[in-house]
Amino acid sequence: MRTHKIAAIPADGIGQEVISAGLEVLTALASKDGTFSFEVEHFDWGSERYKSTGTLMPTDGAEQLKQFDAIFFGAVGAPDVPDHITLWGLRLAICQPLDQYANVRPSRILPGITSPLRNATAENLDWVIVRENSEGEYAGNGGRAHQGLPLEVATETSIFTRSGVTRIMRFAFELARSRRRKHLTVVTKSNAQRHGMVLWDEIANEVAAEFSDVSWDKMLVDAMTVRMTLDPKSLDTIVATNLHADILSDLASALAGSIGIGPTANLNPERHFPSMFEPIHGSAFDITGKGIANPIGTFWTACMMLDHLGETRASEHLMQAIEKVTANEQFHTPDLGGTARTNDVTTALITEIRKT
Ligand code: IPM
Ligand code: MG
Repeated sequence: MRTHKIAAIPADGIGQEVISAGLEVLTALASKDGTFSFEVEHFDWGSERYKSTGTLMPTDGAEQLKQFDAIFFGAVGAPDVPDHITLWGLRLAICQPLDQYANVRPSRILPGITSPLRNATAENLDWVIVRENSEGEYAGNGGRAHQGLPLEVATETSIFTRSGVTRIMRFAFELARSRRRKHLTVVTKSNAQRHGMVLWDEIANEVAAEFSDVSWDKMLVDAMTVRMTLDPKSLDTIVATNLHADILSDLASALAGSIGIGPTANLNPERHFPSMFEPIHGSAFDITGKGIANPIGTFWTACMMLDHLGETRASEHLMQAIEKVTANEQFHTPDLGGTARTNDVTTALITEIRKT
């Protein structure tokens, strides 16, 4: 029996509800499969801990996580704590020391889900965005001086390193190669940002030469929003900087039907450290505690975690069950225009898993 050690960090808002639904589903899958199991440790890190102790996680938090095979993360952010404190105190405080430099965000229109785009279908909107997750605009490089005075100044300088850009380009080309279309779009803004983004473009060109079987093109990030909206079928795998991909991945999940559905993997591809898996949606305090959060984003995230753990059969099984459930409008939560509750979707999914 294979055992996978999972660190569960539900953290804030609906993160609690969706991670507990996700763990129920993972347990059901494991007992159905019979060849693997999970050993789950729960961590109470997040904004509540910050309010009572002053930190979102212990100072050796990232160190503690190193002994796990994967991290299953809910969401971080609270209405009464500044967002830069919660982001830097937990999510980035895990991603950066564990060098989870490849953030992977697939978007696809699942059965039964309607895209706001008139002509979008599962066949012509099927993308994976690769987000550079360790540097760029999120490097944390900058400072403030003369606070409160008229000459107050603040800087926020992006960092692009040759090794950082090269590794994310290689990862993206490899991912593109593994997909049917074998096509990569490199998102840039080198017309206006004439240093870091020019290095980004040059390295894309160099790495492309190692992947002669993968076709690729380059898009300015502003024009990319137009192409995603008007010509979704021209895209497949997409690579972009930390901030550009942050924005484009929200657009992608909205175009795929709902931000409640999208999954994320924060990968350390070399597996020197555990990778972290989280739904894309965030803490959603407006619906917290109401029992109506869409757990599908977390279930799809669980598929990515299973793939990473080598449980490919269970991952496929779970994805098929997800598609059966989304196909039935009775199991659509309010973000999809339905009236189903988190529990209804979870129970339907577990029933589906036990059946097939
Ligand atoms: C994301 C989120 C975060 C980010 C927020 C919560 C700071 O939007 O994971 O895309 O910008 O990285
Ligand atoms: Mg975002």
